[in-house]
Amino acid sequence: MRHISVPNPQVEQALGLIREHDLLAPSMHVFPTEDGKSRLIPLDFGAPLSLPDGLADFDIVEHEGKPDERVDSDWWTHLSGLLGEETVERHGEAWPSSHEFFGDMMIVRLDEEVAGYSQQIASAKLQSHPHIRLVLSDRGVLGELRIRDLTPIGARRENEIILENIPEDITSTQVMVRESGRSILCDPTRAYFSTKLQSERLETLNLAKELRSLLGRPLRVCDPFCGVGPALATLLGEPNLVGEALASDLNPDAVEMLLDNLRRWDHRDYPNAPLPLSRIHPDRLVGVADATTLPSHPLTSGNWDLLLVNLPHRTIELLPTLIPLLDTQSPSLVRGRVIVAESEIDAANTAIQSSLPNRLEGTPEPELRIKRDYSSTLRLCSFEAWIATTSEGE
Ligand SMILES: C[S@@+](CC[C@H](N)C(=O)[O-])C[C@H]1O[C@@H](n2cnc3c(N)ncnc32)[C@H](O)[C@@H]1O
Repeated sequence: MRHISVPNPQVEQALGLIREHDLLAPSMHVFPTEDGKSRLIPLDFGAPLSLPDGLADFDIVEHEGKPDERVDSDWWTHLSGLLGEETVERHGEAWPSSHEFFGDMMIVRLDEEVAGYSQQIASAKLQSHPHIRLVLSDRGVLGELRIRDLTPIGARRENEIILENIPEDITSTQVMVRESGRSILCDPTRAYFSTKLQSERLETLNLAKELRSLLGRPLRVCDPFCGVGPALATLLGEPNLVGEALASDLNPDAVEMLLDNLRRWDHRDYPNAPLPLSRIHPDRLVGVADATTLPSHPLTSGNWDLLLVNLPHRTIELLPTLIPLLDTQSPSLVRGRVIVAESEIDAANTAIQSSLPNRLEGTPEPELRIKRDYSSTLRLCSFEAWIATTSEGE
């Protein structure tokens, strides 16, 4: 989570400005830095990349957010009020103490042991989080398109909490999520989107800026697993960073929402309905496409400076097929995410390194960095690889 680091004497003034601009992350703590000389103030996910005057000169620090325990204790109090202390204690860690926010929706995973209490869980969550409209239980991710299997278990209409026969007009899962100053239209039941990847996208932004400095011009960005487009949202927010862009996905529903998003981020017309990959503007190739077909497509082959490979279960397998998308007449960059068993990370690094062309001199060998646990044995990792210009005759 992004925090703004403010020296102690300026904290009150900075907090005032942050509140005035509505940039403070709700239900999170302000806490001291290790040396105790500054405070880290949590920024809302929707806060823009460039902060307003008066705040722009402070350092931005990535740090795990510290939740305000009062909201948490509220949920336990409401749950105990509905079910009694004894039942709550009996099921201990099986209760869904964590959850994911998605606009005005909350997604929870229900352990089988407490699934029979879904209504009480939804009610306690809705009471402790008054800004939430809909609570959904999550039964995991489905298939190649990575869409979520979600069931509404409770909703709010004005002051009423509804737990049975929830009317359809309040169960819509299509929402706008604010991130880094952009609104992203998404629907987790129709297309993949994760609110947890903001820092990943900010890292990609910093790498892209480095590549721009190296090339001395805006980048040609290829995002062939783009979903609803969140990586591009962040990159397009930086002036003169993106020249040409390719944004495609196999899922037509993802492309439908992507078109809506691009219309707002790019301030230009885009079609309403999903269409096969097409040149919609001279510098925008957008549409439905199987990424594995792009390297042999004359419109897309050998054309890109920055390639994003975000299909973590298959990145290593697909990487050799996707490399011909890069323009190796100048330095380029591959940024990828991979899900792999921790015990297999060395083998995965070797596979990545052997499928890439020559690395740019002076840059580190691509290596997976663990970002978080995906399961008890699997880790979600990311890497970047700087690719050299192909020498003549190679
Ligand atoms: C993990 S999601 C990433 C989406 C997006 N980049 C993001 O960060 O939100 C992977 C995406 O790849 C898409 N996908 C799966 N197989 C594909 C293929 N063969 N060609 C293109 N897209 C594919 C899925 O529909 C999904 O949107």
